[in-house]
Amino acid sequence: MVHQMTESNLISAYCGESQAHMRYLIFAHRATGEGYSNISRLFIAVAHAERIHASNHYRNIIVKGGQTTVGGALFGSRSTIEDLQHGVEGERHEIEEMYPAYIAVAKDQKEYGAEITFKYAWEAEKTHVTLYEKAKQAAEQKHDAQFGKIGVCEVCGYTVEQEIPEKCPICNAKKEKFVIF
Ligand code: FE2
Ligand code: FE2
Ligand code: FE2
Repeated sequence: MVHQMTESNLISAYCGESQAHMRYLIFAHRATGEGYSNISRLFIAVAHAERIHASNHYRNIIVKGGQTTVGGALFGSRSTIEDLQHGVEGERHEIEEMYPAYIAVAKDQKEYGAEITFKYAWEAEKTHVTLYEKAKQAAEQKHDAQFGKIGVCEVCGYTVEQEIPEKCPICNAKKEKFVIF
């Protein structure tokens, strides 16, 4: 059984991650149009990680049938620099506010599956904010970011640039579990 509050947190996190996935794909398209091919690639990689988070949360939701859903989202950015700023703000909200609270509730309610999926996302978002900040610095200097290959762990959404680790530092998945962008 999933407790009601944990279940509502899972649904809300699923919505937030789903919207982040789509928002980052929209941002990737805009970045390409503005000539930032590496920043576009970063948005696509992180969008992939958000899909993994959404899927992991989704699998832990057991309530059947229709639900009215609510998930936080940011609107109104109109340039790659603004998109990156929204990316940073959204990721920070998840790191500082949302996931610590959801993890605490899941832990208290002994909802192990929810606790794990929230923890994976929480740790992975920290890698996203770092990469977005790096990209934003470059865009503010009016040039594309210098990124090597970007790897995303298929299990937890950990996102890393250049060196793919032998084992994922968040979930211990092997190097072969990384998708390269
Ligand atoms: Fe996420
Ligand atoms: Fe993220
Ligand atoms: Fe991982």
